[in-house]
Amino acid sequence: MKHTSFWRAGLASLALMAAPAQASEAALDQEAIAYRKGIMKTLEAQFNAMAGIIAFGGPADNLRSHLETVLISARMVLPSFEKHAPGGTSQPHLWDDWAGYTRYMQEFEAAVAMAIEASKHNSVNQVIWYTDQISCRKCHDIYKQKGVSGGVEYLGY
Ligand code: HEC
Repeated sequence: MKHTSFWRAGLASLALMAAPAQASEAALDQEAIAYRKGIMKTLEAQFNAMAGIIAFGGPADNLRSHLETVLISARMVLPSFEKHAPGGTSQPHLWDDWAGYTRYMQEFEAAVAMAIEASKHNSVNQVIWYTDQISCRKCHDIYKQKGVSGGVEYLGY
């Protein structure tokens, strides 16, 4: 009897795994939007953590780890937007201007890479200076809607 329930549970989870294939396009879009927002929230968490370290004089070495986490996450941003799924707080023109969007992301990554380099050789103050050059806002101003929930305007990004 144990066997029966084991297989029944197995079949049920197989059915669950198959479910996304049958999901409507709109539902898939919602998944894609939630996924890319999750990556953005990872970036936000790293910046909040760095602001905290700077504010309370926390472990300076961790600044580099947070920057490295930002770089890894930043590399996931473009693939996460590849699915043309307008919605969330994205600007609908983002997908018509993919080359421009890509350029902003590459600039962002380059600034993060410079801050990581600085963290290997320079004082904390210089690392903070480089970190300040990383602008989330430059991209948000063009490709993210303002004045809607989920915004990060309050953080000054
Ligand atoms: C190259 C463009 C780009 C860069 C760089 C960028 N973002 Fe975003 N961000 C977006 C877009 C587009 C959205 C809207 C996503 C959506 O709702 O589909 C967004 C949304 C967000 C959101 C809202 C997520 C939600 O739950 O609605 C947060 C938070 C965020 N970004 C944080 C950051 C932080 C912090 C940085 C910098 C460290 C950053 N972003 C850099 C394009 C960018």
